[in-house]
Amino acid sequence: MRFDDASSGWTRASFASPRDWQLPYTEDHDALAARTLERLADGPGFAVVTGAPVAAMTTDEVRSFSESMLGHLGRPLPQGRGRETALAWLVRDEGASAHTDERRFHEVAYTSKSRGSLHLHNDQAVQPFGHAPDYLALLTHRKARIGGESLLLDAWTAYRVLRREFPRELDRLRRPFAIDRRHVTPDGQNPVVRSPVFEPSEDGLRVRCNVKRIETAYPLTGRTPPPADLAALDALRRVLGRTDLRLTLALEEGDCLVVDDRRILHGRTGYQDHDEPDRRRCLVRVMLGRHPVGPPTLPQASVSSTSETGSRGVGVPSGP
Ligand SMILES: [Fe+2]
Repeated sequence: MRFDDASSGWTRASFASPRDWQLPYTEDHDALAARTLERLADGPGFAVVTGAPVAAMTTDEVRSFSESMLGHLGRPLPQGRGRETALAWLVRDEGASAHTDERRFHEVAYTSKSRGSLHLHNDQAVQPFGHAPDYLALLTHRKARIGGESLLLDAWTAYRVLRREFPRELDRLRRPFAIDRRHVTPDGQNPVVRSPVFEPSEDGLRVRCNVKRIETAYPLTGRTPPPADLAALDALRRVLGRTDLRLTLALEEGDCLVVDDRRILHGRTGYQDHDEPDRRRCLVRVMLGRHPVGPPTLPQASVSSTSETGSRGVGVPSGP
């Protein structure tokens, strides 16, 4: 698929059933990776591998298993700092909060260690621990008692809607913003990075989207956001907030969500956990760089022939 000015990206209505994004687990991890990469490059930009055999594993065993399985898909990238550094990062409630007691956003907390909701973003935006991950994988070991669903939104669709409904604001979104990455700054590097939210080029559409971290960057740079910036961020927030554009996925234990972080925005609903510590929600996150083979530096989308008929299915752009 190639990003195309006329029509690209999916909405919730593009999918007929979960089978459109599910792939059954197989012990042949090479074959599984090949099928997954096909969905990432030529399909909707994400896939859910179902039925990975993690139920009887310990947390450490799931971490090793995820590195091994996902290593066929790409090169796992180190996450964290110092002794915390890991290729397989535990996403679970460790008491961190994305908000302070005064309900102000807590810029330096690891939101992966909280149980709160997470707004839609891609990890590329903050260049976590010095990386620009191509793919992001979340393997579910234990799910929450209530909530904790994954939210996905196609940034190509967001771009298309903005161009139609907020063209002036999109112009601003194509120019650089400062982005706060205090929570994931590599040692000795700048806690502020700069990037446009959308950067169309001959290679495709580069996306670096994190509204919250753009907002918290202004005080760091000593700037008051000008009206054009506020209007652009408001338009982006409104489009990302449209429930008809996004998918909500309830991952089951043994499900592994894999997204192309260069295209697909992800978020999470808040959750309530089990009382028993060994039943509490635990996902293993692996960030991946593409293996140094194959084509394009950015995912490419094209108008498929089926898009003209409006039929439903994987990778079929439709509405709005
Ligand atoms: Fe993230």
